Amino acid sequence: MATIAMTGSASGIGAATRARLEASGARVIGVDLRDAEVIADLGDAAQRARAVDEVLDRCGGTLDGLVTSAGVGPPFDPARMLTINWFGTESFLTGLRPALAASAGVARVVAVSSNSTTVTPNMPDELVDACLALDEDAAHGLLAAMEPQLAMTYAYGGSKTAVARYVRANAPQPSWAGEGIRLNAIAPGAVLTPLLQGGLDDEAFGAQIEMLPIPTGGFADPDTIAAWIEMMLSPAADFMCGSIVFVDGGSDALIRADAWPRSFSLEV
Ligand code: NAI
Repeated sequence: MATIAMTGSASGIGAATRARLEASGARVIGVDLRDAEVIADLGDAAQRARAVDEVLDRCGGTLDGLVTSAGVGPPFDPARMLTINWFGTESFLTGLRPALAASAGVARVVAVSSNSTTVTPNMPDELVDACLALDEDAAHGLLAAMEPQLAMTYAYGGSKTAVARYVRANAPQPSWAGEGIRLNAIAPGAVLTPLLQGGLDDEAFGAQIEMLPIPTGGFADPDTIAAWIEMMLSPAADFMCGSIVFVDGGSDALIRADAWPRSFSLEV
């Protein structure tokens, strides 16, 4: 039986993914604020460390998969949002990597990023760089200097960009691909969950969400995203490494048609 750890297992995309995995016979070790095997607030460094240890205890040091779905969205305190979404993800990816490497077969990881990585204009690179440098104080300082609504927008997009960049930087490395771990990310667009509903119910963010064009129309159902995550945890993903899979109704393609893929210059 495969053992899969999952943050954010109690609601939305995580809960839908958990239901699919359990229906197919996997054992899920959920981490969440409530209704999970491991109860922890991922906005708190000590609780994150304790939660990683508890997962390691429960799985006996061996994991076949990991999904990092815990997250919050605007409106929310920007610094705490960035910490939950980025540090609450990074600590599980980094902390559980050895247990994934210990899997008897291929271990597979899906980090939940977002299409806010590519459809948020003018996102400050230094915010993402501070995240990737694990400099929480610097990241919080940059957010504190911004107008509050912008700080929330960039805390969300910046944290999700850091998740995607971590995946791309680490997935092909000896310590991940070389250890038999497939590390990939999914980048959903708007998915109708309590997180999105919280944004829609807010006057400013509701308008911002409604403004983003979605060529297919409507919002995704959490199970649509769960189906992709389930596939990315299956042998179908064994040749996937460092992929950021956009499932966003076409917003990224519409807004950034020519941004990527692109060639690059190489001096010969
Ligand atoms: P949700 O609100 O239904 O689920 C998020 C889960 O994370 C909840 O169970 C919540 O308790 C948990 N969580 C939040 N703060 C936590 C904390 N401090 N410590 C531990 N657990 C905590 O939201 P949804 O939409 O299912 O979100 C899942 C992931 O998908 C998030 O990372 C989100 O950023 C991402 N996402 C969501 C999109 C959407 O439109 N719903 C779009 C793109 C990405």
